[in-house]
Amino acid sequence: MTLNELKLECESCKGCELYKTRNNLVFGEGSEKADIFIIGEGPGENEDNEGRPFVGRSGKLLDEVLNKHGLSRTNNVYIANMVKCRPPENRDPKTDEKEACIKYLLKQIEIVNPKLIICLGRVSASYFLGKDFKVTKQHGEIYEIDGRKFTATFHPAAILRNINNKPIFEADIEKFSKLV
Ligand code: URA
Repeated sequence: MTLNELKLECESCKGCELYKTRNNLVFGEGSEKADIFIIGEGPGENEDNEGRPFVGRSGKLLDEVLNKHGLSRTNNVYIANMVKCRPPENRDPKTDEKEACIKYLLKQIEIVNPKLIICLGRVSASYFLGKDFKVTKQHGEIYEIDGRKFTATFHPAAILRNINNKPIFEADIEKFSKLV
C-alpha cells in the first residue's frame, strides 16, 4: 500500500465523531523515505483549514529548529499526528478517537519505515512510551520498542509558552539529527 492509497482510505473514515466537525483531513506530510517520523497531537485551526500538519506558529518553530540541523519535511522528515481530524476547541484527543485513528498512523510508520520516531509532547509520548512518561524528565532518551527506535521531546507549542525551554528542545533535535 502507498501513502496516497492510505490517505484515500482516511478521507472516508467515520471511525470516531471528529470527521463530522473537521474542515479537512490532516493526513500527514513529508518524505516517503524519511529517516525521522514526527508525531504531534492533533490538528489545530490552521492545520484543519489547510489540511496540513504543523502550519501554525508551533509548526514554524518546529521547521526553524529542524532546518537548523539539516532536517526538513521536504527532505528527510515525515510529520503526522495522533489523530487526523481536529478535536473541537483544540482539546486533547479522547481515548476512543486515538484508538480509532492509530491504525492509520501505524500503517504510515510501516510504509515510511523511519530510523527514529519522535513523539512531540505528552499526548503522543504517553501513547507510545507509557502513560507515566514525563517529557520534562525523559525527553531525549532513546527507547527500542518492537524493533523501532522511539524518543520524545517537548511539543513546540509548549516551547512557545515557555521560551526558556527552547535551548533544551534544540539540543534534543540536534541529538536526534546525529542519530540518523
Ligand atoms: N499541534 C499538533 O500537535 N499538531 C499539529 O499539526 C499542529 C499543532
